Amino acid sequence: MTRKRVFSGTRATGGLHLGNYLGAVKGYLELSNDPGYETIYMVMDLHAITTPFDKDKLAENTRNVVLDYLACGLDPEKSIITVQSLVPEHTYLAHILSAEISVARMQHLPTFKEKVAQHPDNVTMALLNYPVLMAADILLYKASLVPVGVDQEPHLEVAREIARKMNQKYGTDFPEPKRFATKGEYVPSLTGEGKMSKTVEGSFINLTDSLEMIKKKLSGAPTDSGKGDKVPEKGGVANLLQLVELFEGSDKRKTFESEYLGAGVRYDELKSDLAEAIYNELKPIQEQREKYKNNPVLVDKIIKEGAEKASQIAKQTIKEVKEEMGFI
Ligand code: AMP
Ligand code: TRP
Repeated sequence: MTRKRVFSGTRATGGLHLGNYLGAVKGYLELSNDPGYETIYMVMDLHAITTPFDKDKLAENTRNVVLDYLACGLDPEKSIITVQSLVPEHTYLAHILSAEISVARMQHLPTFKEKVAQHPDNVTMALLNYPVLMAADILLYKASLVPVGVDQEPHLEVAREIARKMNQKYGTDFPEPKRFATKGEYVPSLTGEGKMSKTVEGSFINLTDSLEMIKKKLSGAPTDSGKGDKVPEKGGVANLLQLVELFEGSDKRKTFESEYLGAGVRYDELKSDLAEAIYNELKPIQEQREKYKNNPVLVDKIIKEGAEKASQIAKQTIKEVKEEMGFI
């Protein structure tokens, strides 16, 4: 294998938001443009069923994420772009790998505990096994680099642990996958608390939001009197300043910080400029999205051909693993 492989994916739970874009997709793009890497990006629909989901929306949500990928500039000529459930080897390898990690290890993961708190009536085997399926996604392609947000680090640690065990016990050659971090690896929530997340109402801006919608969402973000003797490090104002830095640069952030310590920040102006800056970044993405949306035949073809290419690699890995493990 000459080129190093990169694997990443996003759950099929609706369209992408700014957190997904800055924390993940920008990293996908950067690596896809580097000829030193072979990149594989999927929409993780099997992961989507680990929390309550709507069967009438699953296919549409999956397609929407593929559209977002293409709109952001991912190119099927450069990357394999497809859908997880179209390559059944993911679940096959997940079963095999699940024999290498304990139930207790899974139960102690922060992501598992969070989901249990959010959906106490839906603590399923699939939810517990989520990180094992994710390890299988990565190891199936022997990927060594994974562009994901910092919240996914505990899952990558599980993937590394499993890779090490498999290599020691059976002599497989799985690389220990590392995270590829982007500048926007932690995009804060508009609510002033925690990170931007699809599951928290009022926390996110979608890639498909209009300028009016962005303004409306930002107008609800909590602020304060606009001045003080210390710039807040947590909460609504801190989050707004972080978004300013991400979309308008660190100089702009510094200007607001000095205003905060001096004459005071006018939040209506800050929010209005920030909305424009965000929309300017999203506008070309939205235009590109329309083009693909109007050409479903092309999108289906990209998904199908991506699955065929991925399957070839996946089948080879399963064959090797079965041999090394002594299957018939
Ligand atoms: P999810 O929507 O949870 O499947 O996340 C898809 C990708 O986006 C993962 O790589 C996450 O780490 C990343 N991501 C999600 N939310 C954020 C955020 N607020 N900031 C940075 N990255 C994020
Ligand atoms: N767990 C990831 C998330 O929530 C999605 C995901 C599933 C993933 N399998 C993966 C990301 C494999 C990277 C590699 O964002």
